[in-house]
Amino acid sequence: MVDWVSSSIHPTTHLINSINHLLKNMKLLMVCLGNICRSPLAEGVMQHLSNEQHLGWTVDSVGTGGWHVGEAPDRRSIRVAREHGIDISRQVCRKFSQSDFNNFDHIFVMDNYNLQDVLAMAPDGQSAEKVKLLLVDKEVPDPYYDNNQFEPVFELIEEGCKDVIRNLTGLHKN
Ligand code: 4NP
Repeated sequence: MVDWVSSSIHPTTHLINSINHLLKNMKLLMVCLGNICRSPLAEGVMQHLSNEQHLGWTVDSVGTGGWHVGEAPDRRSIRVAREHGIDISRQVCRKFSQSDFNNFDHIFVMDNYNLQDVLAMAPDGQSAEKVKLLLVDKEVPDPYYDNNQFEPVFELIEEGCKDVIRNLTGLHKN
């Protein structure tokens, strides 16, 4: 318990410090179907922006399906990320698990199938509230079967990540 009377720090300062602490230690999870194309890009872009803006956030990614567990991201995602100055080659695919609801503050999914799959695993309302589409009003389409979709998908993901930072920090500088 903080003793507000004898403490030399003003309660408002305590409150601001607490909010800053919460914001600094935020944990974000990016979700797609395979965790080899879209969500590795989303992890890479969000971690890159967080580092660049000294937000101190931890970012991870998973798939709702387990076909590629243990694998590196798709080489086309690695390439498009590298073209934008981001290295995602050391990421390792893993499958979404119910414990992720406890381990992350925000869970961002790429499309409505992901949204449905993740929400179906939510143990309670508080967990379900953590889950949102990365882009509020549109999906990030699966580029797996179209080599030409990786660049537009990267750009959509970057737009979504910048929106998330604006929304969570209240900063309007991107
Ligand atoms: P992602 O794309 O969900 O963006 O990683 C996919 C990659 C692989 C498969 C599905 C989606 N797959 O079925 O193998």
